[in-house]
Amino acid sequence: MTVYALHENPEWWPPFEAAFAAEGVPVEQWLLTGDTGDAGLDLDAEPPEGVFWSRMSASAHTRGHVLAKEQTRAVLSWLEGHGRTVVNGRSVLELEMSKVAQHAALRAAGVDVPRTTAVVGEHRLVAAAERFVAAAGGGPFITKHDQGGKGLGVRRFDDVEELRAAVDGGELDAPANGIWLLQELLVAAEPVVTRTELVDGEHVYSVRVSTAQGFELCPADACALPGQAPLFSLREGYEPPQLDAYRRFLAATGTTVAGIESIETVDGRVVTYDVNTNTNYNPDVEAVAPRSGPRAIAAYLGRLAAAEAGRGSAAA
Ligand SMILES: Nc1ncnc2c1ncn2[C@@H]1O[C@H](COP(=O)(O)OP(=O)(O)O)[C@@H](O)[C@H]1O
Ligand SMILES: [Mg+2]
Repeated sequence: MTVYALHENPEWWPPFEAAFAAEGVPVEQWLLTGDTGDAGLDLDAEPPEGVFWSRMSASAHTRGHVLAKEQTRAVLSWLEGHGRTVVNGRSVLELEMSKVAQHAALRAAGVDVPRTTAVVGEHRLVAAAERFVAAAGGGPFITKHDQGGKGLGVRRFDDVEELRAAVDGGELDAPANGIWLLQELLVAAEPVVTRTELVDGEHVYSVRVSTAQGFELCPADACALPGQAPLFSLREGYEPPQLDAYRRFLAATGTTVAGIESIETVDGRVVTYDVNTNTNYNPDVEAVAPRSGPRAIAAYLGRLAAAEAGRGSAAA
């Protein structure tokens, strides 16, 4: 039984191809770039037998694929409507596409999250920031896009006047869905964030990511800047204290593959601010880790495919 991988960026695919081959799990790519082609998507047609895995990216629009998420919504609805097994399906796509959705679900699961205000429309941003900062008794804050990835719209402001100047100067890029977040600035004890990789409820590993060089974080080889020290390293033997809460979050949202980012703050909190459902596992980390992220995914999907095939032959 085949695993179908639904994604948008072929550049990120080779490590997964290799992992599926190593696990002996047949896999096919379905490239969803926002174009259903001349034939369209026949909603009455039976999808092929198989297990489907979505790793649609929230930043697809930055690669010119503005409608990729809409196409993926349609395809996932179709697959689920026909009763197919879908990993990181329709509801998980909504999490991937919205930090508000992530915040709400993390909070409900008992995860410590940054104080955050969502603002629809840039014209409301300054007024909202005035209230946000006043409620905190002053201090710096962060802006970011609800539909993020790649650090979109992430910027630190020391006060509202600085934000006003940036808005007036037309410096801010519009968020893909029009929603801005104002967020508490998490002051890290060290200039690092931690990304915890989970597959099927299991902690694969946690990675330390240096933030000394700024906010734009893309772990793939394709994003490495020449002449820079490696940004990613394995946190050997580390178990996140909030792991049980993460598992509650994953179970409640039906998410089975996720990389979740947190910051350990100067005042001793572990605060979680981002969920990724399409990690590009870092090759330096993969080289030294006791387990491989892509292989854990391939093995998990292989188990689902075997169970699916078993059901098919039992019914026949
Ligand atoms: N509230 C915050 N306080 C401090 N740094 C933050 C905060 N939110 C994000 N960052 C920094 O910005 C990076 C990108 O933000 P993130 O929310 O992960 O967006 P994206 O989905 O684009 O990765 C983070 O990895 C972290 O380094
Ligand atoms: Mg992030």
